[in-house]
Amino acid sequence: MTDKQSMDTFVSLCKRRGFVFQSSEIYGGLGGFWDYGPLGVELKNNIKRSWWRNTVQERADVVGIETSIIMNPRVWEASGHVQTFADPMVDCKKCKHRFRTDDIKPNDKGEISCPDCSGELTDSRMFNLMFKTFIGPVADDASVAYLRPETAQGMFVNFENVLTTMRKKLPFGIAQIGRSFRNEITPGNFIFRDREFEQMEMEFFVMPGTDEEWHDRWIETRMNWWTEDLGIRKENLQLREHPEEELSHYSKRTVDIDYNFPFAGFSEVEGIANRTDFDLKAHEEAAGRTLRYFDEPSGESIVPYVIEPAMGVDRCFLTILIDSYVEEEVKDEKRTVLRLKPHLAPIKVAVLPLSRNEKLTPTAQRVHELLRPHFMTQFDDAQSIGRRYRRQDEIGTPYCVTVDFDTLDDDAVTIRDRDTMTQDRVPVSNLPDVLREKLPPV
Ligand code: GAP
Repeated sequence: MTDKQSMDTFVSLCKRRGFVFQSSEIYGGLGGFWDYGPLGVELKNNIKRSWWRNTVQERADVVGIETSIIMNPRVWEASGHVQTFADPMVDCKKCKHRFRTDDIKPNDKGEISCPDCSGELTDSRMFNLMFKTFIGPVADDASVAYLRPETAQGMFVNFENVLTTMRKKLPFGIAQIGRSFRNEITPGNFIFRDREFEQMEMEFFVMPGTDEEWHDRWIETRMNWWTEDLGIRKENLQLREHPEEELSHYSKRTVDIDYNFPFAGFSEVEGIANRTDFDLKAHEEAAGRTLRYFDEPSGESIVPYVIEPAMGVDRCFLTILIDSYVEEEVKDEKRTVLRLKPHLAPIKVAVLPLSRNEKLTPTAQRVHELLRPHFMTQFDDAQSIGRRYRRQDEIGTPYCVTVDFDTLDDDAVTIRDRDTMTQDRVPVSNLPDVLREKLPPV
């Protein structure tokens, strides 16, 4: 398969099976915006739950918050985003298309021109990626506000609130999951680069001098989450150190976790940055408030350093789909399987009567009702049982429960395993317990 074909396979699977749709599709869509369908929202929620459990719930040193998308615009002046959160771009003078300067390559004769119409290009200039809006009824300079381009600033401006209300001692972290917006010049590669996306970020505040050690620890912790919690294959992940010239304006050192995407090679799925005391100091100065930690042993007020693991849910979603996607031959038939870890699977259990039959259907529906309060389930009685297994394999359902004619006599059903395709017979009365043991909570 070519890279293009493999990407098309995912886009079509996502649409056909209700994972991801184009935003406002009936109007032709909108570049860089996507909607998540019934299965997509389940997978997305499972990713977020897994991150929250690992980053907040299971740790004594991290708490979570949720902050507003639109903040006082002074936040973005202090953080440096108004001045520096920009990409270089050029416009075509003829067709008016706009491109990232890095995407423009010279033609065979070494000339630079518009990739779409060969027209003349403007000089390169910086384009700020923040979406602007206006607050209140008057659209003037005084009412300008921005949709946040990262969730991180919500943690910095609430540093003092969290410190005092939760009585935290260093080191401690503040985590958040939420939407971010960037007016990307060239969104693309499906949900890889969007204009609206969700981030999962954590600011971990540490004593200056311990930052480098904590940075290394977080790189290891985050890599383990990708491989162990999400089950992404190790050989498809790598760490990449940012060279000096690539570092963000706030960073002393950044290490990315890259995934080997079929369409782009190794590309960033998460960044782990040492943001130093840049943000807290910047807000101290701009807001005229002290944002300090009182260190009892030394009797000093200090500005903590910050280690920040930052990732995008949508990019993680794409990574999981690609990494779990397998096509294999079973009894001379092709089957497509998403080998998702069970805690990520959108549907945990499918209930399938052997055939659509007036005797089997009521029993199968009773089994479905029994399982519904415990797991995300689906009931399917359309077409042959083989096709229904394939349909569930394709969306990664770990278990299918089949109700057959013997069920009417012995009140037992078979549980079919997605990966091994083995079938075990269990009494209906034990079914929720047996499945609960196989399906640990997210
Ligand atoms: N607070 C630091 C920060 O936002 P970043 O490297 O710009 O750092 C972190 O973004 C993560 O957010 C990326 O690793 C990526 O997973 C995700 N992300 C960034 N821009 C994105 C976009 N346009 N579309 C989808 N995900 C994006």
